[in-house]
Amino acid sequence: MKSLDKMLNRVLNEDALPGIGKLPDGSLDLVVTDPPYCLGKDYGNDSDKLDPEAYLEWSKLWIDAVIPKLKTTGSLYVFLTWRYSPEIFCYLKKRLIMLNEIIWDRKVPSMGGSTRRYSSVHDNIGFFAKAKDHYFDIDSIRIPYDEETKKARSRSIFVGKKWLEVGYNPKDVWSVSRLHAIHAERVEHPTQKPLEIIERMIKASCPPGGVVFDPFMGSGTTALAAYRLKRNFIGFEINPNYCHVIQERLREEGSLTLEDASALAATSDKDSKSKSKQPTLFEHALAAAGKRAESV
Ligand SMILES: C[S@@+](CC[C@H](N)C(=O)[O-])C[C@H]1O[C@@H](n2cnc3c(N)ncnc32)[C@H](O)[C@@H]1O
Repeated sequence: MKSLDKMLNRVLNEDALPGIGKLPDGSLDLVVTDPPYCLGKDYGNDSDKLDPEAYLEWSKLWIDAVIPKLKTTGSLYVFLTWRYSPEIFCYLKKRLIMLNEIIWDRKVPSMGGSTRRYSSVHDNIGFFAKAKDHYFDIDSIRIPYDEETKKARSRSIFVGKKWLEVGYNPKDVWSVSRLHAIHAERVEHPTQKPLEIIERMIKASCPPGGVVFDPFMGSGTTALAAYRLKRNFIGFEINPNYCHVIQERLREEGSLTLEDASALAATSDKDSKSKSKQPTLFEHALAAAGKRAESV
């Protein structure tokens, strides 16, 4: 019998594809994922360098593996680019309900760019649910009106309106600056996503104390956001160096003690060499750190 408990608040340094199979069916509240985009990026492996056909086949494999792991109230966000989002969204729509395509406007400043076509400054994020009664807490992500707008709505028909007090619901274009090289949040990962975006997804789509899964953790943005928001996380990352980055980000956040972290560094080094399938000390310590989330 598969147990989620043993995997809670762990990021495992292994290939997500066989890894997903270890999760019990119907156990995840939310999948937030940012897989390789097939753009030839160097993640210390060839995962972003497949030819397009192989990439789409690989995408179907992780999608097929992850969908049964969602609860019936669960949902999934996937970051993609315009190049392959049409094919991947079509495939997902056969299995899930498509709720939105969110456009992440990366707010890239105008500096050069392509002269033979328009410069791309957005990512395409698909938002899918398993069923119509998916969990979605709109109040937790409302955006407050500024004082001027509130004042402009002072006519009697607006007085006492809840939405004026609680703010408006976010639209499907999210303008959030990408993390440029000297951004305060930036760590050693080429495609790190802003916490603001992942936090919005988790607040809206995972109940407090619930479980968020990211099969391609990268620098661990999903783990950190989940920890901050008192949700449990589970994830995989194939590159051991990025596992160190994740460990460091969680330690800085206070989810690991300094003592734990130095023991972890030694253990995960050893572990990545021996390719042991046993949980590393790193994973155990993350589990201990995650007790905070479990106790919500
Ligand atoms: C686009 S990045 C994720 C970035 C992440 N969202 C962040 O904010 O840092 C994709 C990551 O998936 C990892 N990866 C690629 N193939 C993998 C696999 N089969 N299993 C686990 N991780 C994989 C890569 O090493 C890379 O770090």
